[in-house]
Amino acid sequence: MNKTNSLDPNRKVEDKEIELSIRPKGLSEFIGQQKLKDQLDIFIRAAKSRGEPLDHILFYGPPGLGKTTLAMLLSGEMGSNIKITSGPALTRAGDLASILTSLKKGDFLFIDEIHRLNKIVEETLYSAMEDYALDIVLGKGPSARSVRLKLQKFTIVGATTRIGLISSPMRDRFGMVQQIDFYEEQNLKDIVERTALVLGVEIESTAAREIAKRSRGTPRIANRLLKRVRDYAQVAGDGKINWRESKDALEKLGVDELGLSDADRRYLDVVKNQYGGGPVGVENIAAALTEDVETITDVYEPFLMKKGLVKRTPRGRVTS
Ligand SMILES: Nc1ncnc2c1ncn2[C@@H]1O[C@H](COP(=O)(O)OP(=O)(O)OP(=O)(O)O)[C@@H](O)[C@H]1O
Ligand SMILES: [Mg+2]
Repeated sequence: MNKTNSLDPNRKVEDKEIELSIRPKGLSEFIGQQKLKDQLDIFIRAAKSRGEPLDHILFYGPPGLGKTTLAMLLSGEMGSNIKITSGPALTRAGDLASILTSLKKGDFLFIDEIHRLNKIVEETLYSAMEDYALDIVLGKGPSARSVRLKLQKFTIVGATTRIGLISSPMRDRFGMVQQIDFYEEQNLKDIVERTALVLGVEIESTAAREIAKRSRGTPRIANRLLKRVRDYAQVAGDGKINWRESKDALEKLGVDELGLSDADRRYLDVVKNQYGGGPVGVENIAAALTEDVETITDVYEPFLMKKGLVKRTPRGRVTS
């Protein structure tokens, strides 16, 4: 079994077909995040009763918590089409313009990693979001003239792991900005059981809880661990996953009781043993782990802080 990969929330490559079948299709299938769902429900019903497209929405939070799922599910709830792109893919304003002009009334455009849009594309997007219009310059030099292209009313759903990198004019153009936080154990258990049902595997409730406990608060990891445990139970037992099998399989995968990954443990080891528990600057931690600062702050630290294992102080990181 592969030890490090299963707990990496950043790793997105999954079996495509399975991924599609286990992704919740409607708000009622989306487990947990009750407050968020209540707000989205009102948002959707209000837009529908006015007969208008949904206002733009920005989701932020660590990887694997359901931002893409929510975007797709919202377009489904509104009965609209969705196009999917990402900040790094939209390199020129022209690329954005051609997508926007192809959208019909009420269509969705999902922009993943929206914090990585370049300045020019971002500014083009501002006016498009606000006025549903694009200003395009035709020709060059003295004969150049600007024309205004009307767009259909559409909905942008943005997703980012780095809300701090979203400029305030960008942020202000979203009618709703929602944080997605790590999931409670009970919700993760429900997600594991739901996925097991979709995959057609039987799992004991205690085994589902064992997986939930060790999933780093992240649905993507819960689903991935379930698949690995299923493989193990298929080989070792009668196919129905029981508690013993889940525990054995998870231990073989190197997943501990807190759901910490190898990378999390190396992080803690660096701060505790190389820097005496801190305070230590994030750049030093990144260098010791040969990781980007961005991965440290967006992927590792949110969960370690949530668990109370790490604190950010003005002088650096401290373990407790
Ligand atoms: N609330 C939920 N209920 C059930 N399954 C969920 C829920 N949230 C996420 N999932 C599942 O978890 C997986 C990851 O979700 P998703 O791809 O939407 O995460 P993401 O936030 O977009 O991650 P990233 O930031 O890496 O793009 C999907 O397989 C999805 O089916
Ligand atoms: Mg995503």
